[in-house]
Amino acid sequence: MELRKVVSGRRSIRRFIQKIVPGEIIKGLIADALWSPSWGNTQPWEIVIVTGEALERFKKKNRDAMLSHKPPKAEIPMPQTWPSSFEKRYKDLGKSVLGSLSIDRKDKKKRFEHFAHMFSLFDAPVMILITIDKKLSLEYAMLDVGIFLQTFCLLAHDRGLGTCIMAATVMYPEMAHEIFSIPETKALIIGAAIGWPALNEPVNCFKRERGSAEEFTRWIK
Ligand SMILES: Cc1cc2nc3c(=O)[nH]c(=O)nc-3n(C[C@H](O)[C@H](O)[C@H](O)COP(=O)(O)O)c2cc1C
Repeated sequence: MELRKVVSGRRSIRRFIQKIVPGEIIKGLIADALWSPSWGNTQPWEIVIVTGEALERFKKKNRDAMLSHKPPKAEIPMPQTWPSSFEKRYKDLGKSVLGSLSIDRKDKKKRFEHFAHMFSLFDAPVMILITIDKKLSLEYAMLDVGIFLQTFCLLAHDRGLGTCIMAATVMYPEMAHEIFSIPETKALIIGAAIGWPALNEPVNCFKRERGSAEEFTRWIK
């Protein structure tokens, strides 16, 4: 696929077809994504790929924790405040996702069910989790991890796979540490759901918004 088409065509996928993703495909995507740049070529990312029974256990525990209102405790703190323009974009996204699922914002039960589904990674058959060593300068390594993950997601899209980068994968880090034997010396940064996208599902097709280049750019001449 043409690169521009890959970049603009990639979108977060929140419904997947229940079809196996061969491990060889994921291996190939990782090998290609490893060409991502990193500070001093340090390549600080540590990649955990989870499928099968271990993933099912994680999804259930993650979902149950959310359903029981367990307070989330991500190792990378979530933003707590943001400017009103960010707030609007965040709310607009919520409206688009819920709207595409025909969930009324006032329907607390249905919204809760959606969040529960999100914490079971939208039933994706594969999860990628990225950790880094806690001894590293976290901020810089996180830049590298972000670049790696976006490259991975673009390559996955080019291969016909859907991805959704998900904060919901790292809200209860103790579970991932336990189920996937990730040592406490490693910080859980972020994960993403992976699978074959259910392309006709409205939640995978709603119109997305982006600001214009002018909105974000200042030219100095
Ligand atoms: C760091 C990060 C965390 C995210 N966490 C979630 C999440 O927990 N649940 C979810 O449905 N989408 C999540 N997303 C997806 C964003 O909502 C999505 O990227 C954004 O709305 C832009 O839409 P697009 O990816 O379809 O272009 C996350 C994205 C990023 C980059």
